[in-house]
Amino acid sequence: MARSVTEWVNVTGDISIIARESGEVWFHTLNVAKEGIDPFAAPMMGAGAVGSTVGLLDGAINLGFAGIERRLARPEPTLVGYAVALVGAYHTSVDTPRNLRHAAGRFEELGRPEVAAYLEERAREETGHDRLALKDLRALGLPAERLVANYIPEGIKPLCKRFDDLCVEDYPIGCIGYSYCLERIAALKQKADIEKVEALLADGIDATRFLRSHSSLGSEAAHVEETIEFVASLPANDRIRVVQETYESAKIMAEGYNHELLKSEAEMLEELQQAVGEALPYRHGSSPSRDEARGARTDMSGTMP
Ligand SMILES: [Fe+2]
Ligand SMILES: [Fe+2]
Repeated sequence: MARSVTEWVNVTGDISIIARESGEVWFHTLNVAKEGIDPFAAPMMGAGAVGSTVGLLDGAINLGFAGIERRLARPEPTLVGYAVALVGAYHTSVDTPRNLRHAAGRFEELGRPEVAAYLEERAREETGHDRLALKDLRALGLPAERLVANYIPEGIKPLCKRFDDLCVEDYPIGCIGYSYCLERIAALKQKADIEKVEALLADGIDATRFLRSHSSLGSEAAHVEETIEFVASLPANDRIRVVQETYESAKIMAEGYNHELLKSEAEMLEELQQAVGEALPYRHGSSPSRDEARGARTDMSGTMP
């Protein structure tokens, strides 16, 4: 009988994630004193399996997000916060096809046609997603093109830069970890999360195209499944790199959320108005909960590509 697969990756300092094919996942602190006998001190070299690979990938996201305040993790949506999140969604999707194709070209040069094909397919699937965000912004009554041309939320910038950088690396396998992180988090969004946003909108306004397609109701769940299967099929060195980048991207994303979520609604409205150069018809406290406290905001993860 084949032995069940165990995979492990050192992600930060002396912390490694260990995952079994059966679904168990745990964080392991490398025991320096026992380095000679710690079986997880050396990088894994064996083949992957779907059950253990998903454990590593999701363990990396959990570890990366461990620093975000729980209070802020699922704030109530407001219209202003939702508009800002859509601008963020536009910026994290507008360059995705081009970036993925660039990385695919590199893998073609490196003689890895299977990685190139996977990235090409992803590029095709992600094409047009920036348009969904623009349509939603327009449906909110905003001058979408002008808004995104003049405004990129501060917390989103490092995330966009990370993806740009990863896709032009000499060996750009890390872009798969970044994409997994964003898609996995988007796929956590449920019907109820979309309904909360819809409840903020006037009857007949459809401004949740991006959110729907980047949720458990849209294509995101399938993208996540396909990525897990593909990553599990990669050689150990690639899997290690993908999991490490999933962790780094999750950390950058968590920091970005914290930054955006800590802004007051008035600050966000000011940013939107600055970008379009005119007053916008939003009032404070547009949240149905009437919670104007700092941090009561749309969960930006819902609108990530
Ligand atoms: Fe996707
Ligand atoms: Fe997308």
